Parts: sequence; C-alpha cells; structure tokens
Amino acid sequence: MKKLLPVVITGAILFLAGCGASTSSAPSSGSSGSAEKQPTIGVAIYKFDDTFMTGVRNAISTAAQGKATVDIVDSQNSQPTQNDKVDLFINKKVNALAINPVDLTAAGVIIDKAKTANTPVVFFNREPLASDMKKWDKVYYVGAKAEESGIMQGQILGDYWKAHPEMDKNKDNVMDVVILQGEPGHQDAIARTKYSVKALEDAGIKVNILAQDTAMWDRSKAQDKMAAFLGAQGDKIEAVLANNDDMALGAIEALKAKGYFANGKYMPVVGVDATAPGLQALKDGTLLGTVLNDAKNQGAATLNLSLALAKGLTPSKDNTGYDITDGQYVWVPYKKITKDNMADAQ
Ligand code: GAL
Repeated sequence: MKKLLPVVITGAILFLAGCGASTSSAPSSGSSGSAEKQPTIGVAIYKFDDTFMTGVRNAISTAAQGKATVDIVDSQNSQPTQNDKVDLFINKKVNALAINPVDLTAAGVIIDKAKTANTPVVFFNREPLASDMKKWDKVYYVGAKAEESGIMQGQILGDYWKAHPEMDKNKDNVMDVVILQGEPGHQDAIARTKYSVKALEDAGIKVNILAQDTAMWDRSKAQDKMAAFLGAQGDKIEAVLANNDDMALGAIEALKAKGYFANGKYMPVVGVDATAPGLQALKDGTLLGTVLNDAKNQGAATLNLSLALAKGLTPSKDNTGYDITDGQYVWVPYKKITKDNMADAQ
C-alpha cells in the first residue's frame, strides 16, 4: 500500500512533464491504454555486502531504467531468507524473477515454486546444477565461464615469473604459491583455484601450493588468512593467487604489515573482478593483475532476459542483445587486466 503514493506522484510528475524525456514510464491510468504498464521483476541478491555483486546490482538497476520496475532485495547470505523473499515476489505476482542464489543447490526448490506460479526465472552469478536447469524451459542462467578467469590469472602470473627470475627466491625452479579461495562449493572458487594452477603448469612452470584456504570472498578474512600464511611460511611464499580482488586486497594489507611493497620488497598478487579498489591497487603497483568480471554486462543480460520473459517472449539475441547458448545460458566473457590495459575495465 505504501508503494501507491510514490507511483501516483511519479505518474503526476510524468504527466506534467508531458511524458517527454523521462527514462521511467508510469503505469497507465487505464483509460487511454496508450502507456503500457512496465513489467515488474523481483531480484534477489545473495548479499548486498559484496563488492562485485554491488556492481551487478547497480547494472541491473541501470539497465531497467524506462523498461521495467525492479524490486531488488538483500538475501543477507541466508537461503531461508531468500526463499521467503521469493515467496513474497510470487505472491505479489511479479512478472519474472532474477535470482542470485545464496546456495546454488537451492535453485531446484526455487524453480519448482516459480514453475507452479508460472513465473519465469533467470539465475545469475551462481550457476544451478544442470539437472535443476532442465526442470523447466522458462529457467535461464547468466554468468561467466569460471575456468576462463582461472586460466587468465595463471597466465598473468606465469608471464611475470618468466620475465622476473628473481621471483624464484629459493632458486629451486618451482613457484611456491598460497591461494585464497572463495566460498567452498562456489563454481568460481573451485574453477579459479584449479585452472590458475593448471595454466601455470601448462606454461611449463612447476607449482607448489604451500597453503590454501577459504576467505569467503571477503577482504578482512583474507587479511587474517594471509597473516597466518606469512606467519607459518614467511619468506617461502613467492606468489599469491586470490579467487577475487577483495581477497587479493586483504592479502596486500597483510603483506604491507610485513614490509612488502616498500624498499624494493615485492610480492606478485593476482585477483579477479577488476573492481574499483582492485584497479586502484593495480595503479598503485600492489596488485600485479586481475581479470575483468564484467558486472555491467552480467547485470544488463540478467535484466534483458528477465524482461523478455516477463513479456512472455522466448529470450533471443534479437530481444536481449546477448547470445543464448544451449537454449538457457548467457556467457559473458572475462578479460585479462594489468596496469597496461586498465582502461578496458573502467
Ligand atoms: C564471483 C566474484 C566474487 C563474488 C562472488 C559472489 O563471481 O568474483 O567477488 O562476488 O561472485 O558469488
């Protein structure tokens, strides 16, 4: 009910403005039928307090302007909370759902509910199991191929190793690394860990993992983990692979506390996401490299697919602007980012 007043005010403002340049069209009063009512899309983010997902969330809002009414909610990193939000959206009869699951194995239950209510659903960032995706044809996924980002991280670090023989501090011809991982079970954490090491090995570099542990995508948890790694391994560590930029930045803080990034003491650290603070660290010379995880296109693709579905259309390149693979997937490409091509990520 509280929502009614802003809608009426928005409608009045638009009417007074002559329905000219505004990006959001108000619902029609019902008499003329000329102004079409915008579809409503219920969006749930796994948690608002996540740097990369904040970028995706903002991209969804931007892409919706003038096309759809989006109701974006915070699942607060709790699957039961998200399930309640989904129930509310369905009760409110939103025209489509866009869900960033807290627990990707919960997607099956969400699909069952959505199917019963005939509300199409687009998942994003956390990929449901293939068996769940097959439950209904009005289910889509927007994301990025996680192994690609791992390979790119490995290549950035491998190129640096080959150009900087001094990186091999103990001269044993083996790269001694520590790895900061995202959430256990998350497809990005698993694939980035595996493929970053594999890319190094494919480049002919021997790798020894001194230590690896989850820091849950989180900067301060990563700082603590890195401090512990430094305490246990000290100068043996020759490189840091982090599954995302926030954890790379946490590692950099712990390294700074041990005198790194001053007086010629250096540690190569590679992340993923190319967030604004990540790019700042690249500029400062503390982060060696990152991989653009394209929040803007992931957000826009999520919105465009949801919108097509909300209008009763089958998503296609024509009505979304994105290629649909295997009938249900949009894959947004990653890109290697170093100081030299930072502009590509800004
Ligand atoms: C990853 C991203 C992380 C984190 C995670 C949340 O794609 O690299 O920083 O946002 O998604 O699911």
